[in-house]
This record gives sequence, C-alpha cells and structure tokens, in this order.
Amino acid sequence: MTVIPDTLRENVRMLGELLGDTILENQGPELFRKVEEIRRLGKSVNVSEESDPGPLIEELGTLEDKDILPIVRSFSQFLNLANIAEQQYFASAEAQQRDILEDTLEQLEGNLGKDDVAQALKNLNIELVLTAHPTEVTRRTLIRKYERIAQTLADLKRTDLLPYERNELKTGLRRTIDEIWHTNEIRDERPTAVDEAKWGFAVIENSLWQAIPQFMRELDRSARRRLGQGLPVDASPFHFYSWMGGDRDGNPNVTHTVTREVLLLGRWMAADLYLKDIHDLAGDLSMSEASDELLAQVDNSRTPYRARLHGLRTRLENTLYWAERRVKGETVKPPEDVILSRQDLLEPLMDCYQSLVDCGMQRIADGALLDSIRRVHCFGINLVPLDIRQDSDRHVQAIDEITQYLELGEYSTWNEDERQAFLIEQLESKRPLVPRNWVPGPDTQEVLDTARILAEEPSETISSYIISMARQPSDVLAVALILKESGLNWNVPIVPLFETLDDLDRSFHVMEKLWSMDWYRQYTGGRQTVMIGYSDSAKDAGKLTATWAQYKSQENLVKLAAEKDIHLMLFHGRGGTIGRGGGPVEKAMASQPPGSVRGAIRVTEQGEMIRYKFGLPRVAVRSLGIYVAATLRATLEPNDAPKPEWRELIEAMSQASLKGYRGIVREDERFVPYFRSLTPEQELGKLALGSRPAKRKATGGVESLRAIPWVFAWMQVRLNLPSWLGARQALQYGVEQAPETFQDMLDHWPFFSSFLDLLEMVLGKADRSIAAYYEKQLVPEELHSLGEQLRDDLKQCEVLLNRVKHQDELLAGDALLAQSIQVRNPYTDPLNYLQAELMKRERKTGNFDPHLERALKVTMAGIAAGMRNTG
Ligand code: PGA
Repeated sequence: MTVIPDTLRENVRMLGELLGDTILENQGPELFRKVEEIRRLGKSVNVSEESDPGPLIEELGTLEDKDILPIVRSFSQFLNLANIAEQQYFASAEAQQRDILEDTLEQLEGNLGKDDVAQALKNLNIELVLTAHPTEVTRRTLIRKYERIAQTLADLKRTDLLPYERNELKTGLRRTIDEIWHTNEIRDERPTAVDEAKWGFAVIENSLWQAIPQFMRELDRSARRRLGQGLPVDASPFHFYSWMGGDRDGNPNVTHTVTREVLLLGRWMAADLYLKDIHDLAGDLSMSEASDELLAQVDNSRTPYRARLHGLRTRLENTLYWAERRVKGETVKPPEDVILSRQDLLEPLMDCYQSLVDCGMQRIADGALLDSIRRVHCFGINLVPLDIRQDSDRHVQAIDEITQYLELGEYSTWNEDERQAFLIEQLESKRPLVPRNWVPGPDTQEVLDTARILAEEPSETISSYIISMARQPSDVLAVALILKESGLNWNVPIVPLFETLDDLDRSFHVMEKLWSMDWYRQYTGGRQTVMIGYSDSAKDAGKLTATWAQYKSQENLVKLAAEKDIHLMLFHGRGGTIGRGGGPVEKAMASQPPGSVRGAIRVTEQGEMIRYKFGLPRVAVRSLGIYVAATLRATLEPNDAPKPEWRELIEAMSQASLKGYRGIVREDERFVPYFRSLTPEQELGKLALGSRPAKRKATGGVESLRAIPWVFAWMQVRLNLPSWLGARQALQYGVEQAPETFQDMLDHWPFFSSFLDLLEMVLGKADRSIAAYYEKQLVPEELHSLGEQLRDDLKQCEVLLNRVKHQDELLAGDALLAQSIQVRNPYTDPLNYLQAELMKRERKTGNFDPHLERALKVTMAGIAAGMRNTG
C-alpha cells in the first residue's frame, strides 16, 4: 500500500537521482554500480522481518577500503536529502489542507464560547528555550545548502514558472547537490561555546525573524474570523530564550567571559536587525498627516514618521557601534543613549502606530510597523535572553570555600537545616559576606564572576538562573546568596531543575519549604518557575517510571502552588528524542496533568530539533501554530485527573518497570562492559558535536555520562534501549494483573496512550538483527547472554504492545511513519553494518587509516539522520 504522498515520493526520487548523477560523475561507474547494488540488497532485507541480511553483509564485506568512504557518504547524504524532502513537504500547502489553528479555534469556540477562547489567546505565554545541546550532527554550512534545496523544491511547485525559470531551478538544485558532495560533512573542530550561540542567533535571523510576524498576522486573521476579535498590538504569545553561552553545567568552556560576549553579541545582532527594519519602515512611512502629539514631538516635521524614527535609528547605530567594540575586547563605556530596554524600542514605534490609527490609516499601521512592534515584544533587546545554568554542587563548593575562609566551618558538611539557617541569616543581613579583596580558588571565582556579569548587564538580557541537580531548598538559597553578593539589584528568577527520580519525588517538599519562607516568597514576588528534567530522570529510572514521576511531581506542584498562592510556570527540559522526553508537541501537551498548563509553558528546544521545527520560516510558522493550538487545548480543555484505579495500576507498573530497568542497568555486572563494547559511545566523542564534554565529571562511568551520548549511542546500534527497557515488565504486569483497567487507561487516558504511542514509534525503529550483528562483531562472547536477554525483552515488548493495541504489527495505525521508516531503512542498514565493521577494525588496530576514520564518523552522522526523532 502506498501511503507516502506522490509529491513527496517524487521529490525523494528526484533528489536521489541527482545525487546518483553526482556520484557517477565524481566516482565513476564502478562505484556507482556498487552503491546501486547495496541499495537493492538493502531493500530486499527490509521486505519482511524474516528477510536474510546475509547477502547484504556479504556484499559489504567485498568492498575495498578505498570504496568505503564514498559509499557511506552516498548513503548518509541520501538520508539527509530524504529528510529535507519530508520537511519541505509537511510544511507545504498540499500537506496542510487542514488549518490546525482555525480548526482548534473553531472547536474550542464551539465548546466554550468566543470570549473565553479570545481571552485565553491573549494571555498565552509560550517560552521556547534554545539550548546548545550537542545533538545536531549536521554542519551549519550544510544546513544552509539543505535549506536552499527545500526552497527550490517549494519553488518548483509553483504553477506560474516559465520554462527558463524551471530550468534554472533544476540546474541550481544539481549545483547544490554537487556542493554538498564536495563538502566535508564532519566538523574538523569542536565548536566553541560562542560558535554555538552564533548558531542560535542565525536561527533567529534566518527564520524566526520572518516567521514570528507572519505567524502573528495569521493568528490575528484566524482570531478575527473565528472569535470576532483580533489580537491586541502588544500580544506576544511567544518568547525565545537561550542556553547557548549561558549553560555552564558540566561545560568548563562556558566561562563568564563567554557569557558576557554572547550577551553583547545578542545586543549587537538585535540592533543590526532592528536597524534594517527601521530603514525599511522609514521608506514606507512617508505620510505627512499625523496626530498633534506626534507633530509636537517632531517639531512639525513634514515627514513626521521618519523624523520620529530618526532618533531610534541613531540609538540603534550607537548600540551597534558600542557592542561591536566591546565584542572586540575594547573597554568602552556605553554611550548614554544605547538601547537598554524594550521600552526604548517600543516608544517611538508605538507613537507612530498611534498617530497612524488616529489619522485613519489603520491598514498602514498594521503593516510593516506592526510587524516590527511584534518583533520587539518577542525578541526584546538581545533576541534571546539568556538562562544561566550551573550544577548545584558548584554552589555548595563555593559557599563552602567562603565559610572556611571566614572560619565559620565547613558548609559542605552541614546538614540541610544548618545550611538553610545560615543562608537565610546571610540573605537577611545587610552586610556583605564575601570580603572585597579575597581571592578564592578558580572554581569559586568563576561562580562569583558569573554572578557579577549578571549584575552588570541590563535585566532584560537575562531570563533566569537554573540549578541542575537541585535537591534541597538550600540549593536555591545558595544561589540567591551568591547573586546577592555580586551586588545584583534585581531578583533573577531562580529555577530548580529536578532531574533524578528521587529529586522529582522530593520536589514537592523542597518547594513547600521554600514557599513557606517569608524571605524567599518575597524574593519571588509570587512567581516561580520549576524545571522538570526528562532525560536524566529517564536515564536514572527508565522511561515509564520517570514519565510517571514527572507527572506526579507536576501534579503536586500545581496543587501546592495554588494553596500557597504562587503563580507557577513549569519548565519542561525535554530532549529531541523519545528517550530524552521528546516526541510530537501535541502528544506532550495532551499528556499534561490537569491545571499544569494554564496558558503558560516553557520548553527546551534542542539541537537538530531546532532545525526541524524552526529552521525555515514556513516550517517555523507551522510549528508555532502547533504550539499555540496544543497549549490552548491543554489550557481550556484539560484532561480529567486519572481515576484512582488508574493511579494504582500505573504506580505498580512503574515499580515493575523500575525494577526491570535498574536490575539491568545498575545491578547486572555484564551491563556496563556490554554497553561499552557494543555501542560507539567512545567513538562518538570524535564527532566534535558540541563544546561540552560527554561526561559530567572527567572520571566516572556510565552514571556520569550525560543523557545525550547515552541515548545517542544506543540509537546508533538500533537497540534504542533507553526508550523501552523496563516497559516489558510494566506491560506484562498491567495486562496480567488488571487487563480491564489497562484497557480503560489506554482508551481514555491521553497520558497513557501517548506513552504507548511513543513506545511503539521507538520499537518500530529498533532492529534486533542489526543489534545482534554489532554484538557478534564487537562484544566478548561471555557477554552475549545479556544481549540475547535484551533482544528477547524487546521482542516481548513488541508482542505485548501489539496485543494491547489489537494489531498484527507495529505502527499499524500510523502507516505514514511505518512507510517513512521503510523508505529509510535500506539506506540506514548498510551504514550500520559498515559501522560495526569499522568499529571492530579501529578497536583492533588503534591506529586507523584517516579515510576509514572519517567513514566511521560519517556512519554515525548518517545513522542519526536515518533515525530522525528516536532513540
Ligand atoms: P542535560 O540535558 O544533559 O544538559 O541536562 C540532557 C538532555 O537534553 O538529554
């Protein structure tokens, strides 16, 4: 059955053929023939589960070393091109026959009435936080070329193209594919933390800068049509924030100087972009008629709008000039009139807006001028205010050094009550604690210097201070004290991140204690953000246990915040892949506990997901629409609370899962050596994906390995273990002990059905026979029994899932995904077999031919492209 739409299929075929032509020209017919043969065998392996991969493996075994690199490059690039075609297709008019926004507004309006929906829409606050997480394998230079391809595919669909225009587009496409082929797809050097931040700014500049006003116009139109009222001028449902250059948790490369540079770069970039806007606006706003207020402001100029914008232009130019010199390292004081707040930008724009409206020129006001106003509301003065993130231990260490220096004792050895008493006393005291000229050790100095940077910068450029591995109230108070000591004169929101099973379970008590402290309540001004860590909790406890713990923690916090009269914002630290809390936004939002959304949500967007969701203006407009629709639904039509019997069952299933997961990961002695030998965990480091080391601590085993390489490594070998280990035990428990309740949950509890859908997606992409091949190649005999056990678990999980979903095979209800996996597998599988072979050779020789070394890296990038959103 063909499910993939024809246009998409044709585009994939066309790009594949063009790539084939390039390979033929560049590598000659011999190699081209081999690629074709491998592709054919790859397809035959994927006909059914029973198909024998033998002939494919055999063919790959005959390859000469010199052919391996071009072959893995061919397959890897094909997967990238297929992804582009898919991304472009789903953003096209053909794929979006239904307008998600309109549909949602219509339904909600039907159920609740226009006013309630309009009110909710006005109050929406969706905060998307771009993080520097090292999961984007694709180099920026290639991303730009892929974007060009996507644009060309869209242009080729235009019906008014003249023949020469079509020819030019096609030639351009060929040329771009040639360029890609002749570009090294692997980064030679690790990006610096500043490079990562620049990448974030580029996403704003190249895509979101256009997409936000476009989306807002669309939302305004839909609201007028469906709700009879448009959006207010200051409506701003989206805000973007960034961790790039601010997140120093386990990343010594993010220093206070990096943070300062990134803050300045943001202001520089913002000034540059606004200047272009103002330049264009001055061209448009040539009108002479203006309100008395505006005329009075500009000395009755004959071009009052241009005159009013002139002052803003000068301020922006000054900001640009000053920030540029600072970035270059010169110590120049900011001139009086640099831009320091949104208000500085808004005032002149709003004066123009008001005057145009007053003089009957609403349509002109609502054009480019309103776009600029919307941008200011969304992007502020540095495009993406920074979150600072640091590990709780670093703060304990810093305070410990201070108390020791002052001969007050060893803070790190005090119990929680003693710590809290000390911190509160210091926070309430008017005297500074840290002596002025004291020189602490470098780590403490860095913590204090970071706080000092926050004190120096305008408050709008910083968003919050996040504490990873937050465990106790004192972790939050310690940061408050460090910030106070820096002389900061505003209250940076301090956000605890709960990210292990124990910490999630404890989050209620931590916040209860904090919200009962007068000092702290006053500090917060009645507003609090709490961050929930999805990936580390899953790594700690397995996916189901972590998901349920996250749910309960949010539920409890919501209740507690209501009792304590705190305005709570939940911040979801989701990774891109399912094992790290990723998955479709609609599913995530529909699984939220009742009352946990209320129009406001903060979510991380990471690595390649930023590209997939926001890389192109069209794609971004669509993603923004999905966010708005899902947030509105979760706000206005929250799910019912789970029934008591559901709770009871999921609690027991979660315990079964925990036991199953930890029984392997923590207790089975074979596990760590198995993981180490089976997966390319060590080899992944060579990809130089990000500025951050793969481990929290230089020493330490799997427990200190970050969640990203953990999931990435399992995804490469197609076992995807972090996303399902423990699920078999849970499903078995549910099905055997309480089949009716289980079915009821599946039918009526979106939280649970989404969990199973995501599980199914992961199982659908796993491949036991490929995982077994890695084992055969790489794992010592004595550990094979564990592999068999794991694969058996995976199989049983699949059987159980099919049984509860009453289907014969996985993804029976999602034919499009099933097909999309099937199209990719013939390209991904050969990369897997070659990867296992290359790993084996590398591990044996230690010293590797540079071409083969590169080939190994390309297999990793290629498999990541083939797997897209799983792992
Ligand atoms: P973290 O993020 O390691 O920065 O906490 C984990 C993830 O996104 O998976």
